[in-house]
Amino acid sequence: MRPARLIDAPRLAALHETCFPDSPWDEAYWQDAVMLTVVEVAEQGLCQLRVAADEAEVMTICVAPEARGQGLGRMLLRAAAARAHGAGADRLFLEVAVENAPARSLYAKLGFKAVGLRKGYYAAGGDALVLARDLPLEEPGAGD
Ligand SMILES: CC(C)(COP(=O)(O)OP(=O)(O)OC[C@H]1O[C@@H](n2cnc3c(N)ncnc32)[C@H](O)[C@@H]1OP(=O)(O)O)[C@@H](O)C(=O)NCCC(=O)NCCS
Repeated sequence: MRPARLIDAPRLAALHETCFPDSPWDEAYWQDAVMLTVVEVAEQGLCQLRVAADEAEVMTICVAPEARGQGLGRMLLRAAAARAHGAGADRLFLEVAVENAPARSLYAKLGFKAVGLRKGYYAAGGDALVLARDLPLEEPGAGD
């Protein structure tokens, strides 16, 4: 796991499409993303955050289906959040589909709390929870 570089754009596009088949984010998107945002990449996962002044937002996070449940998503988010904090962010926001139990569990483990609800946020009509927590990102008692 490491900060993504331009050379990673094809892998980032492929990984994202594997996890989100309707994703419009192609290689050109990811070339810009690695220059303009915080992108953490691993062989089988990625996490992208955008930093604006003292706030950051999770743009996307995904782990290849065969690599899920092994701690990679948590590590990617922690690494990206640490970089965002280093860039000046002291609060991290994200949106998650109400019915996305794995992602909601990950964020709850990391101490995120609901701060809003966006009805009909997704194109398919689902609602999004807005979650937030202060940075740096630490899990009380996790010891990892
Ligand atoms: C959400 C996602 C990134 C999690 O990645 P992951 O590598 O599987 O997660 P981890 O192994 O790091 O798990 C961290 C925590 O998440 C929760 N979690 C992960 N998978 C879960 C599942 N299938 N069911 C319930 N909780 C789950 C657990 O609380 C877990 O903590 P634990 O290991 O102490 O029990 C992954 O499921 C994914 O890519 N999903 C599809 C894309 C997506 O929905 N992205 C989020 C959009 S908001």
